[in-house]
Amino acid sequence: MSPPYSQDISLDTLISVATDAARQAGALLVECTRTGFRIEHKQLINLVTDADHQAEQRIIDVIHHAFPTHPVLAEERGLTEQPPSRYKWVIDPLDGTTNFAHGFPAYCVSIGVECDGREIIGVVYDPTRDELFRAQIGHGASLNGAPISVSTTDHLDQALLVTGFAYDIRETPNNNLNHFARFALKVQGLRRTGTAALDLCYVAAGRFDGFWEVKLSPWDMAAGVVILREAGGRVTNFNGAPHSIYGQELVASNGPIHQAMLDVLQKGTTPS
Ligand code: IPD
Ligand code: CA
Ligand code: CA
Repeated sequence: MSPPYSQDISLDTLISVATDAARQAGALLVECTRTGFRIEHKQLINLVTDADHQAEQRIIDVIHHAFPTHPVLAEERGLTEQPPSRYKWVIDPLDGTTNFAHGFPAYCVSIGVECDGREIIGVVYDPTRDELFRAQIGHGASLNGAPISVSTTDHLDQALLVTGFAYDIRETPNNNLNHFARFALKVQGLRRTGTAALDLCYVAAGRFDGFWEVKLSPWDMAAGVVILREAGGRVTNFNGAPHSIYGQELVASNGPIHQAMLDVLQKGTTPS
């Protein structure tokens, strides 16, 4: 029998493994909030806990049990050493580590699958609310099994937006504070949740109308962009060009307010 990566694997099979991994990791994270965890500093304000590492290992174990030859790009460990494959799993075992470390219940597990370089599966699990966001390319997006879709808000005045800030906020002028200040004066409300993967899912579910961030990593976006697209949303870079999870910029919206968001971002620091 040939190895799994050399044949077509059904989307149902992939999403079922991703869901199992996300639920197991989510349960492990919640358990760590009860039993305790160690916190280390990667940089001054960039934390990592042993819960991040344990959840990541659990996810990789579940994936490799099902697909031993599939490469996994994971935030804490990097890319696993595997032979070339059509498939790549891109995972953030704990998106929202700062929230988690402070006991603020806004964090999730994010698992995306690429095939031939295209994002095809997204699973994001919020264990604090038991909310499971999922999508397979071409099949729509769901929250706990019920279809979700983006909002219809068509003007920034009525929009609730969300953003985030990278850990190098103190070290670079490209720290998003300029965009934040401009948007704050144009929208109904502006939030910073501290979990980019959930931000994308909340745009997908119509809870937010748009989301942008200046410096994200592939594992922050891989699952959420599939869920957003399948819910009818639009995702690009700041120029409106096709989005890549290997670029850093992301603008995600319900569609109708996308151009208005790009206009604000492209004006950068120019006073309005
Ligand atoms: C962070 C969160 C945050 C975003 C940061 C990310 P982490 O991921 O998604 O919302 O603003 O850019 O690095 O470190 O909690 O996995
Ligand atoms: Ca993250
Ligand atoms: Ca993380």
